[in-house]
Amino acid sequence: MRILLLLSLCVILAWASDPLEYDDYDLTGLDARGNRPLSHRRDTYNPSQPGRPQTGSSSSRPTPAPVGVKQEQEKERPLEAGGCTHASEQLGVLCPTGCELKVTIVKQETNVMQAMAPLRNQVDELSRSSNHIYNYVERMSDVLRERQRVNDDNGEVVSHYTGTIEEEHTYIKETVDNAFPSDIRLLQGVLDKIRQKIQRLEKAIQVQNDNCKEPCITSCPIPVVSGKECEDIIRKGGVESQMYMIQPDPQNLPYKVFCDQNNNNGGWLLIQNRMDGSVDFGRRWDSYRRGFGNIAFDVGKGYCQTPGEYWLGNEQISHLTKMGPTEVLIEMEDWSQNKVHAKYSQFTIQSENGNYVLSVDGYSGNAGNTLLEGATELFGVNRTMTIHNGMMFSTYDRDNDKWYSCDTSKQCSKEDGGGWWYNRCHSANPNGRYYIGGAYTNSMAKHGTDDGMVWMNWKGSWYSLKAISMKIKPSFTS
Ligand SMILES: *[C@@H]1O[C@H](CO)[C@@H](O)[C@H](O)[C@H]1NC(C)=O
Repeated sequence: MRILLLLSLCVILAWASDPLEYDDYDLTGLDARGNRPLSHRRDTYNPSQPGRPQTGSSSSRPTPAPVGVKQEQEKERPLEAGGCTHASEQLGVLCPTGCELKVTIVKQETNVMQAMAPLRNQVDELSRSSNHIYNYVERMSDVLRERQRVNDDNGEVVSHYTGTIEEEHTYIKETVDNAFPSDIRLLQGVLDKIRQKIQRLEKAIQVQNDNCKEPCITSCPIPVVSGKECEDIIRKGGVESQMYMIQPDPQNLPYKVFCDQNNNNGGWLLIQNRMDGSVDFGRRWDSYRRGFGNIAFDVGKGYCQTPGEYWLGNEQISHLTKMGPTEVLIEMEDWSQNKVHAKYSQFTIQSENGNYVLSVDGYSGNAGNTLLEGATELFGVNRTMTIHNGMMFSTYDRDNDKWYSCDTSKQCSKEDGGGWWYNRCHSANPNGRYYIGGAYTNSMAKHGTDDGMVWMNWKGSWYSLKAISMKIKPSFTS
C-alpha cells in the first residue's frame, strides 16, 4: 500500500517534471483542440495547459502538478558517496538503500510511462468523444434556441391570427345580434303589409261575392205593354224603343227582347246586335240555340232603352220566323260613322231538326246582297261557296258547313270565330270576332282567316265592322 502510494507519487512527479514529456508520449499526434468550438460561451480554454483536453466536467480532468514541486524536480542532484539526495531537500541525503529505491523507482518509471501511453490515448479518446457530445449538446442547444425562436414567432403569428379571428367573431356576432334581427324586422314589416293587402283583397272579394250571390239581372222595369212580338207591341201602344216582354206563343213562356220602335216605322225585333265587342260570340251550339248576351241597359232614363250585344237564340228566331212571313233588316256601321243596310223581305229559319236552315229572299238596300249572291269580288265556284242562303247553322262544336274535309279541324265556325250559316265559308260573318279599328290582317287573325265582323260586299274580307244588327218584323206585303 505504501509502495503503491509512493509509486503513484513518483508517476505524478515524473509526469509533471518536464512539459516536453507530454509531447514525447503523444505518439498519435492528437490535436485535442481541433474540433473544439471557439465561439461558445462555455469554452473555458486555458492556454497554460496545451494539449490537455477539456470536457464540461472539471472532475474528469487530470489534476495538474503543483508548480513548486516541479521546480524542485528540475534541479539535478549529484550522487554523494554513501547516499543520494532525496527528491525533497528537507529530507536530506538518503541512505544507500534509499538510493537503490530511487534507482528502482526511476527504472519503474519507464514502465509506468509505457503503461501510461494507452491510458493517455484512452483519455484523449474520451476527451474527443466528450467534445463530440459537447458539440452535440451545443448544437442541440442551438436547435433548441432556434425552436424556441420559431416557437415565439409562431406564437406571434398565432396570436395575430387569434386577434383577427376574434375581430371576425365580434363582427359576426354583432351582425347576428344586430343586423339580422333588423333585417328580419324589415322582412316582417313587408310581410305584414302584404298580409294587410291580402286581407283587403279578401274583403273586396267577399263584398263582390256577396253582390254576385244573386244572378245579375238587368234592373229594367218591365213595360206594361206586351205582345206576340214588337210589331204587336207598337200597335198596342209600346212606341218607345226599349226592352219588352213578348210571348209569341201562349204555350211558351214570355221572354225579353229589344224592340226598335223608332226607325223604319218601328216594330222591329232585335235578334242580333254587335256594337262594342263586350260579348263573346265564339260559343257552342246550345248557347246559340238558347241565346246569350245582354238584352238592354238602363243608361239613366229609368228604363232599358239601350240594347246590349246579344243573340236572341235560334229556337226563338226559328219560332218567330215560322209564325208568318218575316222580313229581316241588317244594319251596319263602319269605323267612320258610315252606315249601310241590307233588307230581305223573306227571312225564315227552319227548326233545329234541320239545323236551322236559312232562307232569304227579296233583297233591297245598299250593303250588298251577300246572303243570296255571295261575295261579288269572287267568281264561279269561289263565289257560290260564299252564298249563305240555304245553309245550315254551324258552331265550332257542331259542324254543318259545306267545307268537306277529311281533316276535322277544317271547320268554318272554328276558323271564322262565331256561329253562322256557313257555306265554305262566308261572304258575311256578323257573329265573327270583334276587331277595334276596322282593318285587320291575316296575321292578327287566330287562324289566319278573315274571322272579323265581315260584310264582304261592302268592306271586303279584311275590314271588321264597328257595329251590325239584325232585326225582324212580320211581313204583310203579300
Ligand atoms: C278560285 O280561287 C282559286 C284560288 O284563289 C283560284 O286559283 C281560281 O282561279 C278561282 N276560280 C275562279 C273561277 O275565279
